[in-house]
Amino acid sequence: MLPRLEDLAGSGPGVAALAGGRLTGFLLSRIVVPRVERMAWVPDCGHGLARPGDGVTCRRMYADISRRWAAEGCCAQAVSIQAYDRDAVEAWFSLGFGLTWVDALRDLEPAAGEDEGVEIRRAGPDDIDVLVHLEAELVRHLTSAPISLVYPEDPETHARRSWADGPVDTTWIAFRDDRAVGYLTAERPGADAPVMARTGQSTASVGGAYVVEDARNRGVGTALLNRSLEK
Ligand SMILES: CC(C)(COP(=O)(O)OP(=O)(O)OC[C@H]1O[C@@H](n2cnc3c(N)ncnc32)[C@H](O)[C@@H]1OP(=O)(O)O)[C@@H](O)C(=O)NCCC(=O)NCCS
Repeated sequence: MLPRLEDLAGSGPGVAALAGGRLTGFLLSRIVVPRVERMAWVPDCGHGLARPGDGVTCRRMYADISRRWAAEGCCAQAVSIQAYDRDAVEAWFSLGFGLTWVDALRDLEPAAGEDEGVEIRRAGPDDIDVLVHLEAELVRHLTSAPISLVYPEDPETHARRSWADGPVDTTWIAFRDDRAVGYLTAERPGADAPVMARTGQSTASVGGAYVVEDARNRGVGTALLNRSLEK
């Protein structure tokens, strides 16, 4: 854990809270560019309070660090929290944060209930147009209610840009009757992965997945997942 904290401390704005010379809290962040705008992000290991639920310290650290995020030109901010840490969830929610995405961990056994009628194949450079189309649909899904994420570009432009140097060779596409109905990308967890996912030697991370609306809930997503696990 120490190397991760040292790496974080050297890579973006950070703040420590002290009382009588003792550490009462810390916040370490990284500036990332997940889409187009700059975003400040505090990973799950990047924050802690000596006294659980110490909302006052949390609030004061946030007041300090958020000014520096703004000075760095960040338009968005995110904090990753372990789901069991209810005190931390409450403290950050009280500052106006909300729940936008969830990461979960599972074993590498195949999942039951996959669609047998779907053909899954690994994507290659010739599949870029198919992937752009599916990704643009995913962006439309994410920017619609109730998720309402903000993407500064139109879905096609975003999708084309993200696949220009995206992980095509670790992506699987599902076809039914020659129509592409879904995709899934499985990669090694990157620096952004939660601590739990980075501690194992053989962890894979689902970086993105989408199944067209009229093909959902019939096991296409499960078939994609199972195929990616065979690698
Ligand atoms: C998530 C998704 C890829 C699953 O594909 P699928 O072909 O419908 O998956 P399957 O039919 O194999 O499995 C369906 C299961 O996923 C569950 N599921 C689907 N969306 C879910 C969601 N948002 N939250 C929780 N569970 C979800 C279904 O309830 C179902 O569970 P069950 O088997 O216990 O009944 C598809 O629903 C989708 O594209 N959703 C919109 C885009 C999205 O959320 N992508 C992932 C984040 S980038």
